[in-house]
Amino acid sequence: MNFLFARAPSIRIAPTPTAPRSISHSVSVSKALPFYLNNLRSTEQNDGKVLRMLMFGKPGAGKGTLSARLVKKYDILSLSTGDLLRQHIAEGTEIGRQAEEIVAQGNLLPDDVMLKVVASKLESLNNRHWILDGFPRTLGQGKLLDSYLQNQNTPLSLVVNLDVADNVILSRISDRWVHLPSGRVYNMSYNRPKVDGFDDETGEPLTKRPDDNPDIFSRRLKQFYDSTSPLLAYYASPGNKSARLVTLQGETSDEIWPQLDAVVRRSFPAVRERASSIAKRRYSLSDPFAMEREKRAIKRAAAGDGPNPSKFFN
Ligand code: AP5
Ligand code: MG
Repeated sequence: MNFLFARAPSIRIAPTPTAPRSISHSVSVSKALPFYLNNLRSTEQNDGKVLRMLMFGKPGAGKGTLSARLVKKYDILSLSTGDLLRQHIAEGTEIGRQAEEIVAQGNLLPDDVMLKVVASKLESLNNRHWILDGFPRTLGQGKLLDSYLQNQNTPLSLVVNLDVADNVILSRISDRWVHLPSGRVYNMSYNRPKVDGFDDETGEPLTKRPDDNPDIFSRRLKQFYDSTSPLLAYYASPGNKSARLVTLQGETSDEIWPQLDAVVRRSFPAVRERASSIAKRRYSLSDPFAMEREKRAIKRAAAGDGPNPSKFFN
């Protein structure tokens, strides 16, 4: 596979439907914990049935969009390190202050900082089907993640590589709008919000990401080729026995989504579809509102009022 960096052409910036806003009421970001490599072993055996998946791909390949689709349809959790960092930045945490300039410039945070960011969240994924989006992003992060998961006897089971051409991605990015507090992604030509410029669920204004401009996007793409793409060879190597590497190609969701859905259905029959009554929610550990929604749903179920969603926060 040729990962030589091709300079990105310039991209069009979509008109701003509303002024960017700061995030005023997202809940506090959990304090990052040390990265425990010696956690208790999971009682769950690695029987190949549990989905522990990396969503891998270039910036703008559709990692967030496709993770959200899987999470909406199936009883799966997702964790996006990009969303987590944007929450830290919005909250003004120490990690956020460190990350702000690096993210805005399209560079990568140091591995040790990223481990702090994800460590406490990884513990919450234990015994669940899950997807990591945007982590690992360097060989160092990949090896540390493997050590951590092997130690828990919960190795990766699937690596999905979204293979989308650079020119397709560049045109998508110019049309992307995001709801920063939740990480929900919209696209003005492919996945429009119900009301232009506003989030479907909260009605709050959407914004452009500060790193979605032509120059910075070129740098993010270069970072991908330089630092992240070597992970593909790592996961494809014979030493990597547990995780299946699947490359999905296509330009549109009509092409990629059915392939992804089929891989999950066929290879992981233990992954259950969500009941339709709870399918509308987004179950993401990087969605600051997900935990509160889940707690409320569990309370309602205990009171005999509504379905009992599976409990996913320990
Ligand atoms: P992050 O937020 O992870 O950004 P990224 O990897 O650059 O990926 P994006 O979120 O831009 O794209 P995506 O693949 O999720 O695509 P999307 O679904 O939005 O990271 C941001 C920054 O944080 C990094 O640059 C770095 O600084 C830092 N960072 C994060 N993790 C780190 C780590 N582990 N180590 C160090 N630093 C780290 O889709 C894009 C657009 O396409 C959307 O408009 C969407 O609607 C549209 N679209 C998606 N799918 C389709 C489709 N099938 N057909 C048509 N349109 C589609
Ligand atoms: Mg994303």
